[in-house]
Amino acid sequence: MRNLCIVGLQWGDEGKGKIVDFYADRFEGVVRYNGGSNAGHTIVIGGRMFVFHLLPSGYLKKKKLLIGPGVALDPLTLDGELQLVRNEGGEADLLIDERCTLVTPFEKQMDAFIETLRGENALGTTKRGIGPSYAMRALRLTPRAGDLVNGTFDMDAAISFYKTFMKDLPDLGPWKEESRKVLAGRTGNVGESIMAMNEAGHSVLFEGAQGVLLDLVYGTYPYVTGAHTIANYVPAGLGIPNTSLGDVMGVAKAYTTRVGGGPFPTEILGETGEKIRTEGKEYGATTGRPRRVGWLDLVGLKYAVRLNGVSELALTKLDILAKVKEMKVCIAYSIDGEETSNFSRALPKLAAAKPVYMDMPSFFGVELREHQLPGPAQNLVEFLENELKVKVTLVSMGEERSATMKRHA
Ligand code: IMO
Ligand code: MG
Repeated sequence: MRNLCIVGLQWGDEGKGKIVDFYADRFEGVVRYNGGSNAGHTIVIGGRMFVFHLLPSGYLKKKKLLIGPGVALDPLTLDGELQLVRNEGGEADLLIDERCTLVTPFEKQMDAFIETLRGENALGTTKRGIGPSYAMRALRLTPRAGDLVNGTFDMDAAISFYKTFMKDLPDLGPWKEESRKVLAGRTGNVGESIMAMNEAGHSVLFEGAQGVLLDLVYGTYPYVTGAHTIANYVPAGLGIPNTSLGDVMGVAKAYTTRVGGGPFPTEILGETGEKIRTEGKEYGATTGRPRRVGWLDLVGLKYAVRLNGVSELALTKLDILAKVKEMKVCIAYSIDGEETSNFSRALPKLAAAKPVYMDMPSFFGVELREHQLPGPAQNLVEFLENELKVKVTLVSMGEERSATMKRHA
């Protein structure tokens, strides 16, 4: 069996954690390849909610967990998650790549500092230090996981750098000591480990964080995260051959959400938006912020499917659409009087894009039972398959692990 990448196709929060958990059984390991603790992956089992920020979502299926060198790692957040796991009587089987960029308290402070400098144009970052951590890696001013464990990195230049523009820098000593304890005995080479598993005939699941439209280069810049979110980044983010990427499953919500600033052509303001937000519990799993809510955007989805080479689709939260009377899908944008359904072309002017909608049969009041797809929902799924030219193989109709339905073998 081939490896599989699960990637978000919108602005994050598509339900990737739930889909990873659903699929994890078939794989030997679950691997995070990008982002950091800005992610919030939620899984609900028997009414209990688990939220992972750094620990791969395969934990609940007792899989080997790997955090690759493309991740910006905050050791203390990870420690908190490992502690929660221990409180449950569990122990994570975790390997952290020695080349992971670390997030120190300085990067978190810098994240907040830059947001303040931006004033009303703030990006609305999660303030988890993600952008600054990747930036500091590019400047070669931050230690990697292995550097901290081995004591082989001199932070003096970084500290002098930070002192030029930030006051009240905390003493890094306690952070170093605690972080070293978290990382010690857990670091190694994740790429080599994946290749060894593959060579032994076992496959792994790559768990994407964020979504395609938040990609640093291919998303809605500057309202994006600090690194790549696309599946194309898997081989580079992990140190494995391109041929090991395997299949790509895209995850999309049946509507759209976005946290933080930036253009959002299909945003719904007012009552319907509020209803979807409440029913869909659309509040950030990392920051608790209310998520902005909008209709499904086929223009963005087509772009994401094509760019990532998506081979199958998981559609989530269909049940929430049964709570609202209207049902629309955006099929094109109108920008300065011109219509386009090409997202790349629309990107530079996305803030001026007006959505062109197609009305769809409403789901309102339709009972979405587990393992049954009623007419209007079936209609939406088939419409998407036609438009996107990929099969919708999974449909999720509720937050419970059991509410995920397989459509094709
Ligand atoms: P998951 O994996 C939703 C957003 C932030 C902000 C922008 C930049 O749960 O889908 P950052 O802190 O990354 O520099 O913030 O990116 N963002 C997310 N939104 N889900 C996420 O992850 C996100 N990770 C970052 O809200 O707009
Ligand atoms: Mg999130």
